[in-house]
Amino acid sequence: MKIVLLGYMGSGKSSIGKLLATKLAIDFVDLDKLIEQKERMTINEIFTKRGEVYFRKREHLYLCEVLSNNQDLIIAVGGGTPCYGNNIEIINNASFSVYLKASIETIVNRLKSEKYKRPLIAHLKDEDLPEFIGKHLFERIPFYVQSNIEIKTDCLSFEEITDTLIAQIKTNLNKP
Ligand code: S3P
Repeated sequence: MKIVLLGYMGSGKSSIGKLLATKLAIDFVDLDKLIEQKERMTINEIFTKRGEVYFRKREHLYLCEVLSNNQDLIIAVGGGTPCYGNNIEIINNASFSVYLKASIETIVNRLKSEKYKRPLIAHLKDEDLPEFIGKHLFERIPFYVQSNIEIKTDCLSFEEITDTLIAQIKTNLNKP
């Protein structure tokens, strides 16, 4: 079984993915980390040296690669991954997908200290983050909501989200 975690930057995909993988004793793959290893560049370097179009093509390639084997895996994809090309169809055909839903406020608070890692927001002032994220999230929600299930994450710890997720996955997999 493959489980793909998706959602906006700062929604907790990587942290929750690692916890979930440990609890289910399944390997974990972070798509951004995989792209960095394969390309031998950080995400920031890929955007600066090769541009976003190149990044999206490689992201699609490695997404297909990681979904194409028979191994059980928990996969955290990038915030933009489901929103380009036919990636959301590919994800849903090959995995059980989970949208980690977070409010603009939660996302802004988490991203303030981590902007520098993310080329799409690194140049923004903290006070401009809510407006940018609000608009960007609005464009992306139609893709995120195509997931098999969604979990509201705002008032829960990563540990609680992971336990809720495990319960929901079990319920969904037992449905006739
Ligand atoms: C992106 C999100 C990032 C990374 C890249 C682009 C996006 O991943 O893939 O910077 O388009 O939202 P995280 O969601 O893990 O930060």
